[in-house]
Amino acid sequence: MNVNQIRKQIPWIKNNKDKIYFDNAATTLKPKCVINKISYYYTHLGINIHNTDSTFCFDVYKKIEMARKTIAKIINCSPENICFVSGATEGLTMIAHGLAHYCKKAEVLLNDFEHASNLLPWYHEKQNGFFKIKFVNINGQFNKKTIIESITKNTKIIALTLASNVYGNSIDDYSKLCTQIKKINKKIIIVLDATQYLAHKWINQLRDIDFIVCSAHKIFGPLGVGFVYLKKDWITKIQPLRYGGGMNEIITKTKFQPYNNIQKFEGGTMPLAEIIGWQEAIKFIDSIGIKNIIDYEHKLKKYFVKKMSTIKNLEIYNPNTPLPIIIFNYKGVNAQDFASWLGTKGIICRSGLSCAKLIKNILKKENFVRCSLSLYNTKKEIDYLYKVIKRYKKGEEIRKIL
Ligand SMILES: Cc1ncc(COP(=O)(O)O)c(C=O)c1O
Repeated sequence: MNVNQIRKQIPWIKNNKDKIYFDNAATTLKPKCVINKISYYYTHLGINIHNTDSTFCFDVYKKIEMARKTIAKIINCSPENICFVSGATEGLTMIAHGLAHYCKKAEVLLNDFEHASNLLPWYHEKQNGFFKIKFVNINGQFNKKTIIESITKNTKIIALTLASNVYGNSIDDYSKLCTQIKKINKKIIIVLDATQYLAHKWINQLRDIDFIVCSAHKIFGPLGVGFVYLKKDWITKIQPLRYGGGMNEIITKTKFQPYNNIQKFEGGTMPLAEIIGWQEAIKFIDSIGIKNIIDYEHKLKKYFVKKMSTIKNLEIYNPNTPLPIIIFNYKGVNAQDFASWLGTKGIICRSGLSCAKLIKNILKKENFVRCSLSLYNTKKEIDYLYKVIKRYKKGEEIRKIL
């Protein structure tokens, strides 16, 4: 993998020479091909695909469907099983809403690693009088065993992130886990939040999974688009979240009938420029090779941990997790102050609990700095961070920020 070549493809890097971007778990930077394709939509295509009355319009429609096919590749599914939404948050809201009306009082199993997007839609439907919520009994460990042990005869839905946006742990043997869950009770519905996972690894085993969500912007694609994968039966079984044009087959004065395919969930005008932009992001990843990306990121994290571990006052909480996300504190310094001070040195990282607020129950920390790396980050950038932290003097963060 030629990192210098990759960096040349990311305009942000060229336009921000004095900055280092270590906040990739929040959103990734976009390659030129993605930006150009979005621009191409507005300069050359421009139409709404609800209009297929001319060959031109039909060709644009075909382009969108081609993009759907390319995007579906990242989870190895048929394009007929993914609907476009605005992102993972809308996707999880759509699933929780659909399942609330389908299984009403079901018990949902959640866990403390989840992002707010995979907690609040379930909480919200609980407040509406639907679900009961239970948490995996983590007991110091979060793995297949603890998930399986938390399943009871009442468990109807398991909603689980495949990779934590904070701790950087991932469930690589998701396929075995899902099969095991279905062996306990084949009616348990499995919802996977793959938002972070897909930036580093793709999914190839769908057999026992009912729903998957993700956001394009975490995977070098544009903001404002993501998808929901629905296993075939769910397309007919659950209600959509969005009602309007494009999703209905019949409307009379008293009723309507939604389509019986993925269009049912795509009411309203879709983010067409973003969809074709996302397709380019997938091609970009494909041209590098997802395996090369994982290997490179893995080496980068190891280097980061090795180097930063030599700084006496730096406490790293997740040195061995597989994703290139590192959370740490400088002893005795508030994480937010420290991250803001790093900002004054041109290093963009993040502090807080990064929207996974229950993680404090596991880590027993209220706050930490997060550096999340990606394929265009370099050892040189890590060396710069090291040098900056090494020179840090207590209290400097307050003086610099004020
Ligand atoms: C694991 C996880 N799930 C869901 C989300 C929500 O994604 P979005 O804000 O794009 O809807 C995020 C965003 O950080 C995330 O990291």
